[in-house]
Amino acid sequence: MSTAPEQNGQKSVGGLDHGLAGLSLSSKTIHADDYLNTDTDVAPAMHVATTFRYNRNPDLLVPAAEQPDPFDPAVGHIYSRLSAPNTSRLEAILSSIFKGPALTYASGLSAFHALLVLLNPKRISIGEGYHGCHGVIGIHEKLTGLKKLDLHCPAEELQPGDVVHVETPLNPHGTAYNIKAFAEKAHSRGAYLTVDATFAPPPLQDPFEWGADIVMHSGTKYVGGHSDMLCGILVINPARLKEGWLKTLQAERVFLGNVMGSLEGWLGVRSIRTLEVRMERQSSNATKLVTWLDAALHPESASEKDAVSAETSKIVQTILDKIEHASLQKDAIKEGWLLKQMPNGFGPVFSISLKNATFARRLPSKLKLFHHATSLGGVESLIEWRTLSDATVHPRLLRISVGLEGWEDLRDDLLQGFKALAEEQTKLGQ
Ligand SMILES: Cc1ncc(COP(=O)(O)O)c(C=O)c1O
Repeated sequence: MSTAPEQNGQKSVGGLDHGLAGLSLSSKTIHADDYLNTDTDVAPAMHVATTFRYNRNPDLLVPAAEQPDPFDPAVGHIYSRLSAPNTSRLEAILSSIFKGPALTYASGLSAFHALLVLLNPKRISIGEGYHGCHGVIGIHEKLTGLKKLDLHCPAEELQPGDVVHVETPLNPHGTAYNIKAFAEKAHSRGAYLTVDATFAPPPLQDPFEWGADIVMHSGTKYVGGHSDMLCGILVINPARLKEGWLKTLQAERVFLGNVMGSLEGWLGVRSIRTLEVRMERQSSNATKLVTWLDAALHPESASEKDAVSAETSKIVQTILDKIEHASLQKDAIKEGWLLKQMPNGFGPVFSISLKNATFARRLPSKLKLFHHATSLGGVESLIEWRTLSDATVHPRLLRISVGLEGWEDLRDDLLQGFKALAEEQTKLGQ
């Protein structure tokens, strides 16, 4: 038997929180879609239909053009390029936890494309980061003459309507930028700040608190969390709703046709239920690994509690040249902004640069717990010789996406991998 949304005790439309304001992140990821649950199933049913029957009562037929909000999922679904049950449930949860209306897309890059179509800037100030976003900008350069400015350009170079696009934490390094400083710079010139926050979803970072106008995610990463779905997400700062961006994005998505599939909507709801526990564990695993590696590489500056044996230090120093991660941004930590903007932990991705490119090419094949693969954010730890997928990254760099395994097991796996490389080098030298 079906239960009408109102019978769940929550308002079906209106505010973002549907009666959940003040609850914890996990309570929201588990319940923010309850108001859309019209079945008695506890686990959401999977709906794969592309088209949905109109009302049989002819008196209740209302043309889409006359609906006050044709995209309101509580009103019902028409065609899955507009909205669909599983996707709407995921979007309800995302809107609640990201604290702004959220739309999903077929991939992170299609969300970025939709963002550029919405704002249609003449200039975009952007730095390094995920190379695919530069590919999307290339398409807009061709279509509209969009021009790139450096991320750190003087404010005077920005004009009203320009976009400052900050990816933080940054792919593939895992280092963080000061969102507030970029928001102030963009807004001082009438430009918009868009933030690709893929590497630090809630509870790690809230870009709206620091002035972002639109937040973007590759939901393929931590929102999906299990390396089995493509998803892009755009979230609008509620303070910007008056610009009409939500309605425009909804309408443009219908014609761009870059909607996420219903199966992904279902997988996304299944996955996001555990977002908070996954992020907390993956973040703390990553920071513990980075602290250990840093103590082994720089034993002279390691605190007593982080100190490692001289033998471990020697092996690590033979192979490793540099580690990058937000937890090692000492100046930013001293300045205060980093811990304010990432109060619940740093992102679960970091990078290591090895002494030479041969070490970097060979390390993944020595590891047992890290899959050698691109992408990131799943429950399993990944390592990638980054030059394989991004030619702009130097060939000594490996990107590590830390999963949910025990961090000591990951530490031991890395150490035995370093050891195997060092032994191989000794043999070759003989
Ligand atoms: C920071 C960042 N943004 C955007 C994307 C693109 O996302 P998708 O692969 O879902 O299109 C990625 C993918 O790796 C990414 O790392």
